[in-house]
Amino acid sequence: MRLFLAVVSLLLASSAARAADPAPVAARYGMVVTAQHLASDIGADILRRGGNAVDAAVAVGYALAVVYPEAGNVGGGGFMTLRFADGRTTFLDFREKAPLAAAATMFEDAAGAVIPGLSLSSWLSVGVPGTVAGLEAARIKYGTMPRAALIQPAIRLAADGFVLTAGDLDIIGKLTERLRRDPAAAAIFLRDGAALQPGDRLRQPDLARTLALIGDHGPDALYHGPIGEAIVAASRAGGGILEPADFARYAVREMRPVECDYRFYHVISAPPPSSGGIALCEMLGILQGYDLRAMGFHSAAEIHVLVEAMRRAFKDRNERLGDPDFVDNRVAELLDPARIAALRNTIDAERATDSASLLAAEPDHEGADTTQFSIVDAAGNAASVTYTLNQWFGSGHVAAGTGIVMNDEMDDFTIKRGVANAFDLLQGSANAIAPGKTPLSSMAPTIVTRDGRVALVLGSAGGPRIITVILEAVVNLIDHGMTVQEAIDAPRIHHQFLPDVVYLERFALSPDTQGLLEQRGYRFVEGRHWGIAEAIRAGAAGLLLGAHDVRGGAGQASGVDCLPADCRDAP
Ligand code: DON
Repeated sequence: MRLFLAVVSLLLASSAARAADPAPVAARYGMVVTAQHLASDIGADILRRGGNAVDAAVAVGYALAVVYPEAGNVGGGGFMTLRFADGRTTFLDFREKAPLAAAATMFEDAAGAVIPGLSLSSWLSVGVPGTVAGLEAARIKYGTMPRAALIQPAIRLAADGFVLTAGDLDIIGKLTERLRRDPAAAAIFLRDGAALQPGDRLRQPDLARTLALIGDHGPDALYHGPIGEAIVAASRAGGGILEPADFARYAVREMRPVECDYRFYHVISAPPPSSGGIALCEMLGILQGYDLRAMGFHSAAEIHVLVEAMRRAFKDRNERLGDPDFVDNRVAELLDPARIAALRNTIDAERATDSASLLAAEPDHEGADTTQFSIVDAAGNAASVTYTLNQWFGSGHVAAGTGIVMNDEMDDFTIKRGVANAFDLLQGSANAIAPGKTPLSSMAPTIVTRDGRVALVLGSAGGPRIITVILEAVVNLIDHGMTVQEAIDAPRIHHQFLPDVVYLERFALSPDTQGLLEQRGYRFVEGRHWGIAEAIRAGAAGLLLGAHDVRGGAGQASGVDCLPADCRDAP
């Protein structure tokens, strides 16, 4: 016994010694990781009551709309990647669509110049929301619990309110100017025009009524009923173009995920209209040819190949991808191993590739704020969900009377060729605006398996940086042997083809590493940290390890330590 204890304490000591990070949250019978602790607890409670990962995802989706209003939503859209214990995989696309009255030049003035801010903060920036349709589609096909039971916790939190912590106010508390511009938004998220403070209770009675209507009548209350009518009225009053027909025709798409292998692992991620899975698989395919472990975390050698893989994948992302109902994305061709090997062969071992030198290589093929939640249940089913309003609080507009914060997803389109969007992305005509079309996204809810079992569930916020956040987390875990918490907390780098610079989080590179890379031709921009990742590592021994990104103030991993039948008696 003494020997056993000694071994255990040695193991604990060694695992603690390897990390500057806290240990991930461990539990055996379920794990829910989200950007807000109350939502994580709601999801874990659904699992304790016998719900599966999809039931928990639906409850979390509604709860975050209340407790994480800057990105959780009813007025936005997103993606859900599912992998069931029996090996089946699927993907639900409930992202926004352009209104029928949208046009390719709708954000330009008569002279063809883009009108600043129009695609970001006007009612014209609002796409037809998909979240409610998506959550209900997932529940009906793959869930086991009644809608009312899954939405009830959100209704209660909206009606009773919840007490804000400093972590909650990381974002809400800093957007006063944006929220002040819309009286309906200011009435909810400001107090007498000033930011909410820690200890304040945020009550959202309009949203509680909206959610109750959805609970009683399902998505029809929004797409064919009073909630949609209220949004249309607010849009018209604010100069927008949303019409009842936009809501009536909204449909969720179920698709095959994009899948690829990386070393001993299998990756399941988001297909178009996301660019995430394709870019991730391209980058992993390129990196497979290098011994990243031997190079070492963020060594000059590793950064060199990471950036070159990112550059090549983002070139494809920016130029070639769009809504699959409108453009042929040629996914198989993009992910053809021979093409990926050829891409790898274009990487110079010593010098940075100049993005400009790649620009002419392929003609433009004629014809993307957010939050992630990751869930695994006791049976081994996994749900990876990213949904968004685009920027924090989306367009900044609340449809009066509904409590719904509306997205500004239209900015993810190519607003005009040659003009960068809010994320500095320069995109092509494959992602041009068209009526009913979904803008290209970077959201990439991802599930990684090994030997036929879920090994990792993850995703992130961060616009195009989402893709590189996930790439680095996967590489950190698989190649560098980091714990899941270390893998997502480690400082990040990002490159997106254009602008041709490497973005750095603070402390991502030592000055001498950076110097070596500058000699190779790289240019760096150091900025604030980015992305908020939520991840679950499923260990070989059946233990689930949940990790919430250190960059997010209010999130939490909530574990389940009892099987549903025993949970009643559990403390
Ligand atoms: O779908 C996309 O790619 C963007 N609308 C995501 C925006 C986002 O992640 C903002 N979060 N920080």
